[in-house]
Amino acid sequence: MKLVIFLTLFALSQVLGESDLNNRTFPDGFKFGAATASYQIEGAWNLDGKGVQLWDWYTHTYPDRIDEQDTGDVACDSYHKWREDIELLKALGVNHYRLSISWSRLLPNGTVNNINPKGIEYYKNIFKTLRENNIEPLVTLYHWDLPITLHEIGGWTNPLIAEYFAEYARVCFREFGEYVKTWITINEPQSTCWGGYAAGAKAPGYSLDWEGLYLCAYVHVLAHAKAYHVYDEEFRSSQNGRISIVIDSPWAEPASNSSVDIAAAQQEREFVLGIYANPIFRGNWPQIVIDNIATRSKLEGFARSRLPQFTQEEIDFINGTADFFGLNTYGTGLITLQNKVDEDIGTPSYSLDKGTSSTVDPSWPSDVPWVHQVPWGFRKLLKYVYEQYGHPEIIVTENGWADKSGTLNDVDRISYVSQYLSALLDAYYEDGVNVAGYTVWSLLDNFEWTNGYTQKLGIVQVDFNSDNRTRTPKDSYHWYQKVIQTKCLVE
Ligand code: NOJ
Repeated sequence: MKLVIFLTLFALSQVLGESDLNNRTFPDGFKFGAATASYQIEGAWNLDGKGVQLWDWYTHTYPDRIDEQDTGDVACDSYHKWREDIELLKALGVNHYRLSISWSRLLPNGTVNNINPKGIEYYKNIFKTLRENNIEPLVTLYHWDLPITLHEIGGWTNPLIAEYFAEYARVCFREFGEYVKTWITINEPQSTCWGGYAAGAKAPGYSLDWEGLYLCAYVHVLAHAKAYHVYDEEFRSSQNGRISIVIDSPWAEPASNSSVDIAAAQQEREFVLGIYANPIFRGNWPQIVIDNIATRSKLEGFARSRLPQFTQEEIDFINGTADFFGLNTYGTGLITLQNKVDEDIGTPSYSLDKGTSSTVDPSWPSDVPWVHQVPWGFRKLLKYVYEQYGHPEIIVTENGWADKSGTLNDVDRISYVSQYLSALLDAYYEDGVNVAGYTVWSLLDNFEWTNGYTQKLGIVQVDFNSDNRTRTPKDSYHWYQKVIQTKCLVE
């Protein structure tokens, strides 16, 4: 009889796919969290003195570039419903809540000569209430709310933006530093620089190709470092917090065992992740990026490299400006060298800079083109980041599953997150990676940028058809709640 029960349970666990989940507990002090961002949830785009920012302008000016012509004008209406959001977080049991401050809600024209008291009040109330509920805020200063005035002077292609950003950061540290002990300067520079300035796929929609990406990356890295130094020199000793940046990357797996593909995968990592991480964690751009762009610029007839060069003073200023590594990741790519690269040398083509291309294995579970369930890729990425960037503490600041249906019975999300958490435990216990926290994206279904409301990532459903923006926890919310309570994946 016992044998029958055992075999039945074993068979069931195989069907449920639980057998490959880690059965170790999460280490003491491990932090669980959930994340959102201002434009994606707040709404109230023109209320109480808020200035217009890049995505207000983009969604209003180019409605056809957003699925179903949607905007974040109302979004989840968290400007009014933030107390409800905190109640959901409290019941969930998270240690931290990652949220962002809207630059243009605080500084309507982008500069410190006009500070919006209603903006200060809004965020202070949130931080106070989080504290009362014992939830630590992880606060992103820039999750893509660039004040439109600053976009008009060139946005992230103008190095002066780094100064404006540091001044804005100073206001945040001064006003909120009593409550906020973990700061994130900038969210996902890669998404902004590739999507916004190179490929024209996100606001501001510029298609400047690699030229745009390099300039944007240069200004982002400088802006981050300036804000870091403001904190370090003016606030750290009195506020005792820490500060870093959030960098996003899929795992780049060689498409085959050939030495060419292995080298291509490393090149991909350096061009996608290393461009931002290397100056901050090791000093200067990755060497392969410097060399590749210099060679190609020369072949194309430039008298200089199209990659902005850091001075030695800048290298020293930027190097070491991170107290931990904030990592966002959703998928994995199979990388190969674009055959065209060598043949095309001599033919100017900006699209050849990285020189690699990425595909996915069609068997990997997926419901939208950019999220694939590949937990082993996540484990490899954690190990790579840890080893490549000097063994930093890693906080996974975003990870999650996107579906189109938004169903409450979100078994695919539970499968994805449980597999990723299991891989995280493998990285921690087997590979010795110091990964200290995990943050699910997202607490709420929200405005998913150019995908509007057609892709859902929340563990809480939001009814965007109801004026009340009714929130309903999904099955994944209840599942995550149990994981946090038990510190264990297998129930
Ligand atoms: C990247 C961004 O940080 C966040 O804003 C976005 O919604 C998620 N990841 C999913 O795309």
